Amino acid sequence: MTKTNSSIFHFAIIFILILEIRTQLSNESEFLVDRSKTGLTHVPKDLSLNTTILDISQNYISELRTSDIISLSKLKILIISHNRIQYLDMSVFRFNQELEYLDLSHNKLEKISCHPTLNLKHLDLSFNAFDALPICQELGNMSQLEFLGLSATQLQKSSMLPIAYLHISKVLLVLGDTYGEKEDPESLRDLNTQSLHIVFPTRNEFHFILDVSVSTAVSLELSNIKCVLDDNGCSSFQNVLSKLQKNSRLSNLTLNNIETTWNSFFMILQLVWHTNIKYFSISNVKLQGRVDFRDFDYSGTSLKALSIHQVVNDVFSLPQGYIYKILSNMNIQHLTVSAAHMVHMVCPSQISPLLYLNFSNNLLTDMVFKNCANLANLKTLSLQMNQLKELANIVHMTKEMKSLQQLDVSQNSLKYDESEGNCPWTRSLLSLNMSSNILTDSVFRCLPPRVKVLDLHNNRIRSIPIDVTSLETLQELNVASNSLAHLPGCGTFSSLSILIIDYNSISNPSADFFQSCQKIRSLKAGNNPFQCTCELRDFIQSVGQVSSEVVEGWPDSYKCDYPESYKGTPLKDFHVSQLSCNTALLIVTIGVSGLVFAVTVTVLCIYLDLPWYLRMVCQWTQTRRRARNVPLEELQRTVQFHAFISYSGHDSAWVKNELIPNLEKEDIRICLHERNFVPGKSIMENIINCIEKSYKSIFVLSPNFVQSEWCHYELYFAHHNLFNEGSNNLILILLDPIPQYSIPSSYHKLKALMAQRTYLEWPKEKSKHGLFWANLRASINIKLMDKAKEISHTQI
Ligand SMILES: *[C@@H]1O[C@H](CO)[C@@H](O)[C@H](O)[C@H]1NC(C)=O
Ligand SMILES: *[C@@H]1O[C@H](CO)[C@@H](O)[C@H](O)[C@H]1NC(C)=O
Ligand SMILES: *[C@@H]1O[C@H](CO)[C@@H](O)[C@H](O)[C@H]1NC(C)=O
Ligand SMILES: *[C@@H]1O[C@H](CO)[C@@H](O)[C@H](O)[C@H]1NC(C)=O
Ligand SMILES: *[C@@H]1O[C@H](CO)[C@@H](O)[C@H](O)[C@H]1NC(C)=O
Ligand SMILES: *[C@@H]1O[C@H](CO)[C@@H](O)[C@H](O)[C@H]1NC(C)=O
Repeated sequence: MTKTNSSIFHFAIIFILILEIRTQLSNESEFLVDRSKTGLTHVPKDLSLNTTILDISQNYISELRTSDIISLSKLKILIISHNRIQYLDMSVFRFNQELEYLDLSHNKLEKISCHPTLNLKHLDLSFNAFDALPICQELGNMSQLEFLGLSATQLQKSSMLPIAYLHISKVLLVLGDTYGEKEDPESLRDLNTQSLHIVFPTRNEFHFILDVSVSTAVSLELSNIKCVLDDNGCSSFQNVLSKLQKNSRLSNLTLNNIETTWNSFFMILQLVWHTNIKYFSISNVKLQGRVDFRDFDYSGTSLKALSIHQVVNDVFSLPQGYIYKILSNMNIQHLTVSAAHMVHMVCPSQISPLLYLNFSNNLLTDMVFKNCANLANLKTLSLQMNQLKELANIVHMTKEMKSLQQLDVSQNSLKYDESEGNCPWTRSLLSLNMSSNILTDSVFRCLPPRVKVLDLHNNRIRSIPIDVTSLETLQELNVASNSLAHLPGCGTFSSLSILIIDYNSISNPSADFFQSCQKIRSLKAGNNPFQCTCELRDFIQSVGQVSSEVVEGWPDSYKCDYPESYKGTPLKDFHVSQLSCNTALLIVTIGVSGLVFAVTVTVLCIYLDLPWYLRMVCQWTQTRRRARNVPLEELQRTVQFHAFISYSGHDSAWVKNELIPNLEKEDIRICLHERNFVPGKSIMENIINCIEKSYKSIFVLSPNFVQSEWCHYELYFAHHNLFNEGSNNLILILLDPIPQYSIPSSYHKLKALMAQRTYLEWPKEKSKHGLFWANLRASINIKLMDKAKEISHTQI
C-alpha cells in the first residue's frame, strides 16, 4: 500500500474513532488524553488515572511495559499506531480490564505474546513486520472481536484456525513486501469474516494465486493491483477474480490503487460484469496503453452500481467516443464516474435503466446530454464541479429527462441570461443544487415549477425579485453567502419551511418575516451585518416570540455590526426602550399625558372649585402687595375702626353668626351703623360717619342687599367719589350670587365692581371657610391693624 493510502486508511480509522469518542464524550464519563505527534519515546508517566481514551500515536515509543499503563484502570481505547514497537507481550494489559480498542498498526512488531484475559472489540496489528500471522490461541477467546487488523509476509492455512469460530465483522490483512514466495492459495479458507480487505504488496506485478473468495464474506476490498506488463487482461488477477464466483454471498467488491492498461481495465470490468457482484467500486486508477478492446457484453449481470473514482490516464490519443459509449450504455441503475477528467459524455443509444448518474468533478461542458431522450428513467444527476456555463443549456438538457428529481450543478460557472427566453425545466425536478456558481437575481425567473429544495448559496444574488413566479412547493431555500440586503418574505414561497440566508448583507431584517412565513421551521440568518438601531427591535422581539429551535444559531451567530459602540454585541443583549424608538408612540404618549392633565384640571375645577381657590390666592397676594405700599401716617390720622360692615337685614343672621364673631375673634374693631349709632343724625349720616372712621368698608352683597341697601351708596359714591377705581378701602363679600340682569341699570358703580370680580365669594362648602376667613383677614390687613392697635393704645 502506498504511503498516501495507508495514511488515508489511518485517517479513516481516526475519524471513526473520533466519532466514537464524540458520542462517548457526551456521556461525561470519558476522559480523552491526546499526546499524538509529541515526540514521545516512552509512554508518559503523568497521565490522569481517569483516562479512558489515550492517543499516543505518531511518536517514537519502542516499548510498552506493564508499569506504563497499570494505573490506567479505566482505559478503554489505546492508540499507539505509528511508533517503533518491536515486541509486545499482551499481558501488559492484564490490569486494564476495560480495554476494548487497541491500535498497534504501523509499528515494527515482529512478535507478540498473547494473554488470555483480554477481551477486545478492536485489535489492529496491521502494517507491522510480522512474518507469520500474529494469531495466537488466546485470540480465539475474544468473542467480542469486531475488527482484526493483521499483517504477514506468509500465510498458512493452519494459522487461521484459532479464530475460525469467531464472527468478525471486518478483517484487514496487509501482506508484506516479501509475500508471494511460497503461496498457499487455500490459506484464507477458514477465515470467518463478513468483510475482508486485503492489501497486496506494492512493489511487484500482480502474480498471486491467493484464493480471496472467503466463503463468509459479503464485501471484499483489494488494494494495490499492479498489472502493466500483461496487456491481455492481467491474467493472474483475472484468475483471482474468477474464483469469486464460488462465494454466492459476495455482493460488494472494491478495488483500490489499480495500475493497469485500458484493455486490461475493460477486461476486468467485463469479468466482474458476469459475477454475482452487485456493488462494484474502483478508486484511484492509473491507466496506460492502447484501447483496442471491442464490444462490451452487457448481458447477464447482477451489477446494480458501478463507481469509478479518480482516474489518471497516461495516454494522449484516446478513442474517447468509444470509452464514453461503453460507459453510457451500461445497463445498471447507478453509475458514478468522478474525478476522471472526462470532457464529454454521450447519450445512451437506447432507453437507459440508469436511475442515478454521478459525473462530479470532471470537465463536462454544456453540451453534455444535449437533446438526449434516452435518460428517461434518470432520477438523480450530479454534474457538480464541471465546466458548465449557461443555465439555459442545462434547462434544455433536463427537458427530456422526464423522471429527473434531483439535479446537482453546483460548483460550475453557471449564469443565466434572461434574454434566452423561456425556461422549460423538466416538471419532475424536486431538488436543484445550483450553489457556487455566478448566478444573479435573474435566476429567480428561471426555476423548476415544482422544486422543493433549492440551493443557491454562494452566488451573486443581491435581491429576490418580488414579481417572481410563485414557487408554491418550495420548502427549503438556501441563499447563504450571497449579497442579499433584505430578509425576503414568503409571499411567493407559500410552503417555505427552511430558509438559510446567513453570510449576506442583511442589516435590518424585517419582523414581518415570521408573519409572512407561517410554515417556517428553521431560519438560519446569522453572520449578517446587523445594524443595531430601533428598526431591529421588532425583529429581535419576534425572534423571542417564535420557538427557540426555529432560529438556528441564535444567539451566538447574531451580532451587531453597527453602530460601532454595539459592534460584537449579541442581538439578544441589544435593548432600546419602546418609547425612544417609536415616534407615533412618543406622540401618543405626550398626547395622552396632556389629556390626562386637562382632565385632571377639569375635574379639579368642576368638583373642587379650583378657580375659586385660585381667585382667593390671587386676591391674597394682591392685598399683601398693596398693604406694603400704604403709608403708616395715613392710618394714624384716620383710623378709629378697622372695618365698617354694611348688609341687608335679610342677611343679618349670617353677619351676626359668622362674620362678626370671626372678625372680632381677631380683635378687629367693627363699626355697625345700628350699633355705633349717633343720635340726632339720619341713617345716611350715621353710615357716612361710620365709613369715614373706618379703615375698610365691607359690603355683604346678595340680591337682597342690591334691592334694599345699595341705593344709599350709589348716590353717596356719586357725590363723594370716595371709592375710586383701584381703591384699597372697599371689600366686597358675595354672599349669594347676583345675576347680572338683576342689577338695576342705574347702579353703574356696582356693575363696574361686579365686572372686575374683585369680590370675595362666600363658599357654601365648610372645608373652604378657613381660606375665606384668612383671605378676608388679609384684605383688612392684620399687620397694619397691629400698628393701628399700637397707635390707638398710645392715643388712649
Ligand atoms: C455512560 O457510560 C456508562 C458507562 O460507560 C453507562 O453505564 C451509562 O449508561 C452511560 N450514560 C449515558 C447517559 O449514556
Ligand atoms: C477523576 O474522577 C473522580 C471521580 O469521578 C473525580 O473526583 C476526580 O476529580 C477526577 N480527576 C481528574 C483529574 O479529573
Ligand atoms: C478460552 O476460554 C475457555 C473457557 O473460558 C478456556 O477453557 C480456554 O482455556 C481458553 N483458551 C485460551 C487459549 O485461553
Ligand atoms: C455494499 O455497498 C453498498 C453500496 O455502496 C452499501 O450500501 C452496502 O452497505 C455495502 N455492503 C457491505 C456489506 O459493505
Ligand atoms: C458523487 O460522487 C462524489 C465522489 O464519489 C461524491 O462525493 C458525491 O457525494 C456524489 N454525489 C451524489 C449526489 O451522490
Ligand atoms: C449542494 O452542493 C454542495 C456542494 O457543491 C453541498 O455542500 C450542499 O450540501 C448541496 N446542497 C444540498 C441541498 O444538497
